[in-house]
Amino acid sequence: MIRSFKGVTALVTGASSGIGKAMVRELAGQGAHLILASRSVQRLEQEAEDLKIRFGVSVHIFPADLSRPEKCRELFEWTLKRSLVVDFLVNSAGLAHYGPFSDTSLEDTSEMLDLNIQALTHLTRLFLPGMLERKTGGVLNVASTAGFQPIPCLSVYAATKAFVLNFSEALWAECKGQDVRIFCLCPGNTRTRFHQTAKIDRQRMFFSASAADVARFGLRKFLRSNRPSAIYGFWNKLMIYAERWVPRRLTVFFTRLIYRREKRTGT
Ligand SMILES: NC(=O)c1ccc[n+]([C@@H]2O[C@H](COP(=O)([O-])OP(=O)(O)OC[C@H]3O[C@@H](n4cnc5c(N)ncnc54)[C@H](OP(=O)(O)O)[C@@H]3O)[C@@H](O)[C@H]2O)c1
Repeated sequence: MIRSFKGVTALVTGASSGIGKAMVRELAGQGAHLILASRSVQRLEQEAEDLKIRFGVSVHIFPADLSRPEKCRELFEWTLKRSLVVDFLVNSAGLAHYGPFSDTSLEDTSEMLDLNIQALTHLTRLFLPGMLERKTGGVLNVASTAGFQPIPCLSVYAATKAFVLNFSEALWAECKGQDVRIFCLCPGNTRTRFHQTAKIDRQRMFFSASAADVARFGLRKFLRSNRPSAIYGFWNKLMIYAERWVPRRLTVFFTRLIYRREKRTGT
C-alpha cells in the first residue's frame, strides 16, 4: 500500500497542463519519480528539466497521442524495456468538445471517447495487474462533477466522466484488501486550458478552483481517505448532494440553463 509518495514512481497522463501538471509538481515536491505523458514534446521536456532541477527526482517523458489505442500499449512496453516499475498511475488526460451532440463532428466525439474512456481503461488494465502482483500501488482517475449529471451540450463528455466514476468505484471495491488503492477525483470548474480547448464560455464557470489546490486535495485524499472517490470543494459537494434529493429532470433543467448554447443572432 502506498503510504507516502517518497521514492514512488508515478506515471501521469495529461502532465503538460492543468490538473495533471499540478499533480506532477506536487508529487515531485513529495519525492516521487515521474513519467510524464501527453502530446506536446516541448512542454513535457521543459517541465521535466524544471522538475529535475527543482526537486532532484528522476523524470522520463513519453510524448504521445493517447487517444490512439496502440499508444497505450507502446507506453506500457516502453516502461518494461526501461525497467521502470510504475507504482502509481494518474489518469488526468481528458478533454471536452462543447456543443449540441448532432453538431459535433464524429471525429470530436470519438476523440472524447478514445481519450477519456479508452485510454484511461487501457492504461489501468495494463498497469494494474503488476501492482496487484507486487501487492503495492495505486491508480488515481480524474473524473468530474459532470460524472454525476447529464449535461446538455456536453452530453458525451459528461457521460464519459460517469463511466470514469463508476468504473473507478467498482475497481476500488475489487482491489480492496489487496494493498492496491483505486481512487477517483471529481473536480468541479478548475482554472486550466480545459475550457479553452472545449470552447466553453468562461462566464459559465462558477466557484472555480486552482489546479494546484485540486491536485493537492486529490493526492491527499488518495493517501488518507478510505473512500472510493471525492468531490473537490464545498459548493460542488453541496450541488451534487442536493441533486440526490430532486427529480432527475430538475437536474437536467438546471444544467441546461447553465450550459445551453445561446442562440446566435445575425449571420
Ligand atoms: N478544468 C476543469 O474545469 C475540469 C473539471 C473537472 C474535470 N476535469 C478533468 O481534469 C482532467 C485534466 O483536465 P485539465 O483541466 O487539466 O485540462 P487541460 O489543462 O486542458 O489539460 C489536459 C491535458 O490532457 C492532455 N491531452 C489532451 N489530449 C491528449 C491526447 N490525445 N493524448 C495525450 N494527452 C492529451 C493535454 O496535453 P497535450 O495537449 O500536450 O496533449 C493536457 O496535458 C481532464 O480529464 C478533465 O476532464 C477538468
